[in-house]
Amino acid sequence: MQSPASAGAVWMHDAKRLADALGLGSRDARAEAELLLVRALDIPKARLLAHPELAEEASRNPRYLDYLERRLAGEPIAYILGEREFYGLDFRVTPDVLIPRPETELLVDLALARIPEAERRRVLEVGTGSGCVAVAIAHLRPRTRVIATDVSSAALAVAQDNARRHAADNVEFRCGDGFAPVRAERFDLILSNPPYVAQDDPHLLQGDLRFEPKLALTSGADGMVALRSTIAEAPDRLQAGGWLLLEHGHAQGEAVRALLVSCGFRGVFTEPDLAGQPRVSGGRLAPAA
Ligand SMILES: C[S@@+](CC[C@H](N)C(=O)[O-])C[C@H]1O[C@@H](n2cnc3c(N)ncnc32)[C@H](O)[C@@H]1O
Repeated sequence: MQSPASAGAVWMHDAKRLADALGLGSRDARAEAELLLVRALDIPKARLLAHPELAEEASRNPRYLDYLERRLAGEPIAYILGEREFYGLDFRVTPDVLIPRPETELLVDLALARIPEAERRRVLEVGTGSGCVAVAIAHLRPRTRVIATDVSSAALAVAQDNARRHAADNVEFRCGDGFAPVRAERFDLILSNPPYVAQDDPHLLQGDLRFEPKLALTSGADGMVALRSTIAEAPDRLQAGGWLLLEHGHAQGEAVRALLVSCGFRGVFTEPDLAGQPRVSGGRLAPAA
């Protein structure tokens, strides 16, 4: 149990523990402590800012103390709070799904730029996880039909919940390996943020990655197994003129572009994420003659 009497002392004490345990800067550590308390007390952040004395509750609120201990043990804040914002929408997340990443918003940007609002397009997402990509696209392109697959039925239960949460009734989830759930269909656009980390990458032992499903992260010795099979199989599931868009690791752009070219894609490109790292590559099949 914490003992400091004043609100300021509580924050300094807890923020310092978070900073020490997680290697955070003092601003980030304080912001995390504040977020945990706001969520534990179930109050808007503005109320805490207007009434800083509420921070005194931290030392005796069991939910806050549970959140704090879990965060100090390294558990990702998105799993503790059960939520993460992506593309301006709140998504439910559980340890069954990858935590949506800001860099994946680029994949959605590039897809939306290729899906005219007024037309009825068919889009496939392979490996939907929390459903954040599929639901964001379905939400912003209500005339588009989105099929989203995942090999994990536990992930699909979360994705289904997120579709309901955002009233996205133009997205359909199917369980299965790769393209197996869509064997006889063709799409105008296919996109995927597949697992792309090498199975012995030391980053897997650090930070949030330690808590996320391996199935969502790793793909063979070089991290490229899912990328290779998706690129090889996509042409049979695309309409003439259809697009394939793939998120990948920052060092995988060149290999992904070479695979796209060898599988018949044209106009092959790689776009950097907000940090300037090569992040999404894509290409287009030849349009019908
Ligand atoms: C990197 S996560 C991406 C999740 C989500 N689309 C996102 O961007 O946050 C990859 C997802 O692919 C799924 N997956 C892994 N192998 C798969 C396979 N062979 N077939 C279908 N989905 C697979 C995982 O379960 C995981 O949900």
